Amino acid sequence: MCGIVGYVGPRDAGPILLAGLRRLEYRGYDSAGVATLRGGELVVRKRAGRVRDLEALLAADPAAGRCGISHTRWATHGPPDDANAHPHLGGEGAVAVVHNGVIENHADLRRELGARGIRLVSQTDTEVIAHLIAEELSGGVEPLDAVLRILPRLEGTYGLAVVCRDFPDQVVGARLGSPMVVGFGDDEHFLASDPSAIAAHTRRVAYLQDGEVALLSPSRVEIFHRERGPITPRIDRIDWQPDSVELGSFSHYMQKEIREQPSTIRDACRGRLRPAEATAQFGGLNLSASRLRRIRRVVFAACGTSWHAALVGEYLIERLANLPVEVEYASEFRYRNAPLDDRTLVFVLSQSGETADTLGALREARRRGFPTLAICNVVGSTIAREADGGIYLHAGPEIGVASTKAFSAQVAVLAMLALHLGRLRQLSFPAGMEVLRAIESAPDLIGRILDREPEVIAAAERVAIARSVLFLGRDLHYPVALEGALKLKEISYLHAEGYPTAEMKHGPIALIDPETPSVFVAPRGSLHGKTLGNIEEVRARRGPVIAVGTEGDDSLAGLADHVLSIPDAPEVIQPLLAIVPLQLLAYHVARLRGCDIDKPRNLAKSVTVE
Ligand code: F6R
Repeated sequence: MCGIVGYVGPRDAGPILLAGLRRLEYRGYDSAGVATLRGGELVVRKRAGRVRDLEALLAADPAAGRCGISHTRWATHGPPDDANAHPHLGGEGAVAVVHNGVIENHADLRRELGARGIRLVSQTDTEVIAHLIAEELSGGVEPLDAVLRILPRLEGTYGLAVVCRDFPDQVVGARLGSPMVVGFGDDEHFLASDPSAIAAHTRRVAYLQDGEVALLSPSRVEIFHRERGPITPRIDRIDWQPDSVELGSFSHYMQKEIREQPSTIRDACRGRLRPAEATAQFGGLNLSASRLRRIRRVVFAACGTSWHAALVGEYLIERLANLPVEVEYASEFRYRNAPLDDRTLVFVLSQSGETADTLGALREARRRGFPTLAICNVVGSTIAREADGGIYLHAGPEIGVASTKAFSAQVAVLAMLALHLGRLRQLSFPAGMEVLRAIESAPDLIGRILDREPEVIAAAERVAIARSVLFLGRDLHYPVALEGALKLKEISYLHAEGYPTAEMKHGPIALIDPETPSVFVAPRGSLHGKTLGNIEEVRARRGPVIAVGTEGDDSLAGLADHVLSIPDAPEVIQPLLAIVPLQLLAYHVARLRGCDIDKPRNLAKSVTVE
């Protein structure tokens, strides 16, 4: 949420800041702005709309300078108009600030500033920060000290970047609860809320920790903890190629990421499957086999698509390891008194590793004394760093706001985790081997599904004219139905609901009419006959039916208006396959409806506020 980029060095800052914002636009796209330092003046250009609108503004009215900050906004306080766009100024143009996060006591600070005669021009919670810093500067302190002095007054979360008119070669960054990374170049330095914004310029980065403040100048970076003083940063290397975030020949990142799924799953499984023992293993769990054998219960906490993946994990772990599993919304778990004990294994799942609620759940479990593991994609993210151990997805950067390949990688990892826990318990060698071989076969089978896109496009034409769509699935396919519904609603703005198939009779069946399609996730499996019965019930009420079914399943061909075929496969990997046509369905419906697929309305990648 909200993207931040800062630069100081010998080059023209404007193009670097703008290119960085283009990379981060998926984090928020309500407005964008830059502030650069030029000839003793702070030049600010900002406007509501996309980065391309800012680009047009800059083309007509450039903001030159060798030092600057920039921002792309996901609105929290105040509508997305020009006045609320960042940067915000304080001290009549002495300070410019961009911010990601929420300042919870901004109303009090606003009143206090007002009482001192300071007039605020925006409705944001951010503007108070600029004025507080400006007040400190006017007392003669330098930017770093000014920031260090005002931070204790801010309640809430922030990733901040600050430039000051009278200090033309300094950028100050600060972090509490919102990610910030410093990039090291030769005689130039970068600041960003996400390394993808600066990966084209440097591979050497230091992730700021909560409470840390960085002072960047062309020649050096100094990092301080706001209470403990100077610290030596740990330099990490960005281990992915900047071109992995290029769109290439695809029309949308979502399309690219759906198509990447065979390789995503291969990467998630690489080095983890152990045929000799019919199991899977994970280097980063930091738990011995005997400890894992003692576990009596698993708790997963996550949000959104990651929550759906966790639900697939519940079904898989129950099946293969016979362990009770609870799947919690992280936002609920963190404030509940959910019972945990030392035989409970707590996992949080997060693609970004920055989701505020999931991070809150992790911190709460750890505060209560329970080691907490993470299943996470972004290396070096806050969740990855704070967890006691965990499993990386290795899915590469996911840019599309609607998560696709991260879901598959999470499900693949959870299938391997279920196999691992099962083999530590009662799962036999042959049964384990069957699961292992099934997981290995998934990438090729997904490749075959991707070849059948025309079937999906035909079904999408039917769904695109609906007002509401039901997604139904049983057992392992219930989470797939939930995820299919989420994908459709978030990018096409059609109302969609996911339900366990048999629950339909207990309420949602009232919605069925010739205008309301039902999408059944119905590959051949142990409950197939029952699902066919439920499809009949919808047909009897003249409801259109789209079914995800097994290739060559004649029983579906006669019942459904559209069949989206997936190859025959063991049930444990069917969720990995069945989700693919539903992702494609959402994609094509959104395309037909003319929606902005990679930047859906009101959403942003990585929800770093509660
Ligand atoms: C939906 C989607 C969101 C995320 C959710 C959690 O397509 O992307 O529902 O899954 O915001 O995000 P992470 O996994 O980054 O914690």
